[in-house]
Amino acid sequence: MNWWEGEFLRVKNNKLYLESRSAEQLAEKYGTPLYVYSRQQILRNLRSLREAFSPAPAGLEVRMAYAMKANPHPGLLKTLLKEDCWIDAVSPAEVEMAIRAGFTEERIMFTGTSISQEDFEQVLKHPGVIVNIDAYEQIALLEAARKRLRIKGPVRVSVRWNPGLGRGFCSKTVTAGDRSSDGTPIKFGLEDSLVLGTFKRLKNLGLKPAGLHQHLGSGWTEEDFPVIIKAVDRMVKKAGELKKAGFQLEFLDFGGGFGPKYREEQRLFPLPEYAAYILDRVESAKLGLKAIVVEPGKHLLAGAGVLLVRVEYIKKSYGNLFACVNAGTYNTVPRPAIYEEAYHEIVNASRVNGGKKVKITIAGHLCETGDVFGVERMLPLPQRGYILAVLMAGAYCRSMASHFNLRDIPREILL
Ligand code: LLP
Repeated sequence: MNWWEGEFLRVKNNKLYLESRSAEQLAEKYGTPLYVYSRQQILRNLRSLREAFSPAPAGLEVRMAYAMKANPHPGLLKTLLKEDCWIDAVSPAEVEMAIRAGFTEERIMFTGTSISQEDFEQVLKHPGVIVNIDAYEQIALLEAARKRLRIKGPVRVSVRWNPGLGRGFCSKTVTAGDRSSDGTPIKFGLEDSLVLGTFKRLKNLGLKPAGLHQHLGSGWTEEDFPVIIKAVDRMVKKAGELKKAGFQLEFLDFGGGFGPKYREEQRLFPLPEYAAYILDRVESAKLGLKAIVVEPGKHLLAGAGVLLVRVEYIKKSYGNLFACVNAGTYNTVPRPAIYEEAYHEIVNASRVNGGKKVKITIAGHLCETGDVFGVERMLPLPQRGYILAVLMAGAYCRSMASHFNLRDIPREILL
């Protein structure tokens, strides 16, 4: 059995099947390139997350706030709405999209960075949305927006702090700490010394500070666990200090980041241990919280989607072998082109195993050397017309795709 096989992806007669539909037949019916998402797999992923948090005591709600930046497909949003999820939105357009999908304002938290007054005005058209403050300087803009819209009732707010520690699968996805692993200064959240003052200011303005939030990065593996739980300790300690200062919080939001498995040798982030750790610390700190929140993106979506592409021809050049496919990374699965560390397994859906494997680079149709879905992969030799599947394409693929070279962004189907 291949490491990536499971309930969603299976091999039958040496062909790839997606939830019992043949990849080749889907490609034939809907055309390629094609994103295929599985509703059932999203639900399985959600279930595994809920199970991890199932030891939560009665009276402590665990909110699953889907980080819709991972994939804002309306059908997916509706699926998650039915499952009682909340929404983590990072732009006014995401807030709008969530409302259109049917989420009530109260279930949406807006977490913005480099936000304008106009952004806040758009968000506050839905005054029940929770506004997560990412900079002390945002408060003045929020107030100006609130005045302009003549919002009388107290807006519920939360504070995104930066606990000084963060982790991600590459430097571009570390979102807490002073600098990322490549030295880039980290723009997110409020530094420790500003948190209490910010809560006081928010309260004095008549806003309702309801929660404390952190998001440490994206794509964690097992090695990240020790740092991540240290940041959990810091968050719980900070909430204790706020409580002492008179701020009874409704929720602590631990953000997203717990990564699914992108490659065979990757050691999976221990989600059950993480959940148990959070629950234990929150309980022993007696914070009187109503809820804890997590913001899954990749965990729910990454493994629930694939991209199907068609091989146009096999090319040889200076001893290199290429499968030239009818899609470009930037227009479909841009992650390998953007992040050197990003890896997407590629499966020869028309002939999964068997025969002699060749070392082949899967090249896209864009005018850029970095437009390769995978470099020198070992695959049964594809032929013209074969379908290849790029796995883990459910999160941060369609949502980050561009029209580079004036190429279209592929169609999506939800099984
Ligand atoms: N909450 C906040 C505030 C976030 O900014 C993010 C992701 C999440 C939750 C969800 O993180 P997840 O569970 O998906 O790791 N484009 C990158 C990922 C960037 C993630 C940005 N923020 C990638 O393709 O790997």
